[in-house]
Amino acid sequence: MTRIFSGVKPTGHLTLGNYLGAIRRWVEVDQHRADALFCVVDLHALTVEHDPARLRRLSRQAATLLLAAGLDPERCTVFVQSQVDEHTRLAYLLECTASDGELRRMIQYKEKAEAARRSGDGVRLSLLTYPVLMAADILAYGADEVPVGDDQAQHVELTRDLAVRFNQRYGHTFTVPKATHPRVAARIMDLQDPLSKMGKSHESGAGIVYLLDDPDQVRRKVMRAVTDSGTSVVYDREVSPGVANLLEILAACSGGDPEELAGVYESYGALKRAVADAVVELLRPVRERHAELAADPGYLDEVLRKGAGRAGELARPRVDAAYAAIGLLPG
Ligand code: TYM
Repeated sequence: MTRIFSGVKPTGHLTLGNYLGAIRRWVEVDQHRADALFCVVDLHALTVEHDPARLRRLSRQAATLLLAAGLDPERCTVFVQSQVDEHTRLAYLLECTASDGELRRMIQYKEKAEAARRSGDGVRLSLLTYPVLMAADILAYGADEVPVGDDQAQHVELTRDLAVRFNQRYGHTFTVPKATHPRVAARIMDLQDPLSKMGKSHESGAGIVYLLDDPDQVRRKVMRAVTDSGTSVVYDREVSPGVANLLEILAACSGGDPEELAGVYESYGALKRAVADAVVELLRPVRERHAELAADPGYLDEVLRKGAGRAGELARPRVDAAYAAIGLLPG
């Protein structure tokens, strides 16, 4: 059976980008067709400045949102990364497989290191080695597929390179995984800055739709989205990135095609109203279910405990095999 692994990092509140680029497919498709594991990758959140109490809150919130979005713990494994030691155990072996140069070439490293320097924070060493931990997340489970948004493609490429290199040097140990991306909405852009990805922590939240925003907040953000000085609705990411982004969001929500939808709306105002309605309706059940689940923290604890138990059992033999293959004595 196909094995799928993916994760979300609790560095901020989850966004519409996370949902459309990744989580929705996990819910609607991936958990039904494969042995799928979905992880709140909290160790990755330690690679940038963080507050321990906030991280705890965001980790629980992210896990609750995954369930609220529709991941079913009877169908798939939902867990928190730091509760399964195999990730960090394997990461070290992969650090001994990766090179300094290939990690410094990672786009996200360059962007995030630059941002950390600008804000006067030091660049944590773990920010550089982050993609190696991500490779360990994936390879520990023998995942065949990794459903992610566009921004993670380079990290999955690196994961493939490390798997191939390890296998060549030490004997076949790891499945070489491939990234899968959604047909539309693989890169949702910030509504105020349509040349930048909608991330969890852009300086101002005005261009970011959070999954837990209430309908008024969603409407306000969408209606104020930056478009351009033109008037006709066309789908062209180069010429009209803000409008193209709105069309992609609408297409992702309604299952349509951005190019065809462009022909349906006469004005930017009409397009924005349609996007706002679609996003509000898309998020409504998630927000409602989140409120129900948040009222019963014991349930989440139980799901995560079971999830970590199963994940650990799956990962341990493969990580043990990697330890043996690389020349370490069995314990
Ligand atoms: P993270 O937490 O930044 O994002 C989680 C998922 O959401 C997707 N995504 C987007 N998709 C479309 N448009 C956007 N604006 C947008 N923003 C985020 C991401 O591509 C991702 O699929 N390094 C990863 C977490 C991770 C991981 C892993 C993923 C750690 N280990 C192993 C897969 C497998 C990250 O920072 O995702």
